[in-house]
Amino acid sequence: MLIGVPTEVAPGERRVALVPETVARLKKAGNDVLVQRGAGHAAAFLDAAYQEAGASLADDAAGVYQQAGLVAKVQRPLDAELDLMHPGQALLAFLAPLGDPASVERYAARRLTALSMDAIPRITRAQSMDALSSQANISGYKAVLIAADRLPRFFPMLTTAAGTIPPARVLIIGVGVAGLQAIATARRLGAVASGYDTRAVVKEQVQSLGASFLDLDLGVDAEGAGGYARALTAEQEQKLQQLLAQHIGGGIDVVITTANVPGKRAPLLVTEDAVKAMKPGSIVVDLGAESGGNCALTEPGAVAIKYDVTIVGTTNLPSTMPYHASQLYSRNIFAFLQLLIKDGAMNLDFGDEIIKGTTLVKEGEIVHQPTLDAVAGSKA
Ligand code: NAI
Repeated sequence: MLIGVPTEVAPGERRVALVPETVARLKKAGNDVLVQRGAGHAAAFLDAAYQEAGASLADDAAGVYQQAGLVAKVQRPLDAELDLMHPGQALLAFLAPLGDPASVERYAARRLTALSMDAIPRITRAQSMDALSSQANISGYKAVLIAADRLPRFFPMLTTAAGTIPPARVLIIGVGVAGLQAIATARRLGAVASGYDTRAVVKEQVQSLGASFLDLDLGVDAEGAGGYARALTAEQEQKLQQLLAQHIGGGIDVVITTANVPGKRAPLLVTEDAVKAMKPGSIVVDLGAESGGNCALTEPGAVAIKYDVTIVGTTNLPSTMPYHASQLYSRNIFAFLQLLIKDGAMNLDFGDEIIKGTTLVKEGEIVHQPTLDAVAGSKA
């Protein structure tokens, strides 16, 4: 199997789908890898390292798309990239089908086989392939560093000759993969951290990191299928907003929000009133920005200052740490390809729930039920 790696062309994307370490492992497993010249450059992986690992280099994207049996990418292809693909070819990337079902119809129209890294079922056997987790971990870490950089105060408690500095108080709302890493990072920097989530199971995880769990009496455990959260009712969400605003106004310096419900707009949790109640110089980092924002005043993709509070809506934080983001993503891809490629060919064995759950389009036919539902919904 010839695996192709083009340079990412989406604005601001610095990651690359495969790094040299993985190229060497793929070669050892009997595959060939063709990398576009410069594809890893923004992530600090140079062409020479790819060659040393056994990859061939193509001068342009067209060279990669023409020859590859499977194209490995980070972002879903732009139309100009899709135009370079041919029937029978396989595409593997973060295709995020539910956010744009029409894109999946375009893969089908080109008679591709489309596999989505974000659709890999989050079961124990697929943990090494879980790219959502590997990238969310980076977002959680980076969110805290951004907050610490912008906060006009120290994170740790300091006892100095000029007097004592109290530690910063950091609240993390939504404690999944990104939220747990944010808590751990805030604690390492010396802040006093607390976490809140609508899934009750999270309480123990928060406490095991040395943070406190914010017990808000909503009278509901929103744990849904697959360990994900269910959406709250409008009434529950409003009550939660009020309780959070009270707590935030009680002296929280940094709020980091990561709350998401799969396939839905991010829940609105930090209201304008909550922001108004924060001290001047406080920070909100909204990791929900990409899916609509957890904070009412977030400007997705930008940093806004409202009521003397800085609200960071920067999107695609994994791309700001492209070396390790690419390395981890590349390892996720390798683990998945070990399952997918048998004797040098793709083995779309739908008896395997990982392969079935990840395949959106099989040889031109949309086969992924949630995507079919989204396509039907977008036309209703
Ligand atoms: P996510 O990105 O979909 O959501 C982030 C967090 O927001 C979740 O913890 C969710 O409960 C929380 N949330 C949703 N609505 C909220 C609200 N109104 N208020 C406060 N918090 C709210 O989730 P993520 O991080 O991708 O994964 C969440 C969970 O999925 C994990 O904690 C785990 O249980 C499960 N998982 C399982 C894996 C496995 O291999 N078994 C791998 C990865 C995740």
